[in-house]
Amino acid sequence: MENKLQIELWNGRTGASWVRHNTLLETLLRGPGLRCLDQLDLRSVSHALDIGCGCGNQTLSLAERLSTDARVTGVDVSEPMLALARDAVDHLGSDLCPIDFVCKDASQPVFPAHHFDAVYSRFGVMFFDDPTEAFTQIRAAMKPASPLAFICWQAPQKNPFFSAPMQAALTVLPAPTAPAAGAPGPFAFADDNRVNQILTDAGFSSIEITALNERLSVGAGAPFDELFSELIEIGPASALIAESDPSLKESAKAAVAKALRGFYDEESGMSFEANFWLVTARA
Ligand SMILES: C[S@@+](CC[C@H](N)C(=O)[O-])C[C@H]1O[C@@H](n2cnc3c(N)ncnc32)[C@H](O)[C@@H]1O
Repeated sequence: MENKLQIELWNGRTGASWVRHNTLLETLLRGPGLRCLDQLDLRSVSHALDIGCGCGNQTLSLAERLSTDARVTGVDVSEPMLALARDAVDHLGSDLCPIDFVCKDASQPVFPAHHFDAVYSRFGVMFFDDPTEAFTQIRAAMKPASPLAFICWQAPQKNPFFSAPMQAALTVLPAPTAPAAGAPGPFAFADDNRVNQILTDAGFSSIEITALNERLSVGAGAPFDELFSELIEIGPASALIAESDPSLKESAKAAVAKALRGFYDEESGMSFEANFWLVTARA
């Protein structure tokens, strides 16, 4: 089955971690997500799609920017993340436009042709086995000339939120097999030329890819140990430690703690410089 590994991960350990640490992750990622939303002119949009909507936080941000007679659909493959998203919507007042969440693989022809007039994604489009085919399907579901905007990570070396814990863990643990360049995962779209080619081949036009540098911060005033107990359960280093020899886990965690201390101060909490691509195009 297409995307089998990612669907398993997002319904398993990775999805559970995003649900457990939803508040911390939303605090870290809200800023760049809003910067991406700013790229979309939503004034006359009647039905927007949020791809890889996860726990639904930015689906709500999208709904807040639409008129009440519009509609937003969030699509994701992760049942546990969508359960949190649906719960958040159930606890909302009725002053937003209708929001619905569907559990489907966005790379498949799951929506009618020419259905949406804006498509958005915050870190939700880097997990397709065949990204060109996925974006071809996404374009087919969009009205002609309607806007797409998504945000994705630049290379791990430019994102210490991922690279610092990983380098520290690797001082203790054997290195895993490196994924092939562009393999599905958070850094699949690190190469902006590749992203451009994928969107071009999928039939998009007016493609613009802009670098965004932003500081991600969380936990102002919180003790280091409290933040560390969450951060050690997030991202590729967490997965590496989870799969490692049990006798090495504690030393690996200690190495990661030492590295993360360098990104902490009591007043601002944990803070990381981060580099993204803001991508816009027209169907
Ligand atoms: C890094 S998370 C981002 C979640 C959310 N957009 C956010 O920023 O909080 C990636 C999301 O993409 C979803 N995803 C991965 N592959 C997908 C696919 N083929 N179709 C739809 N969603 C997918 C995952 O389940 C996960 O919720």
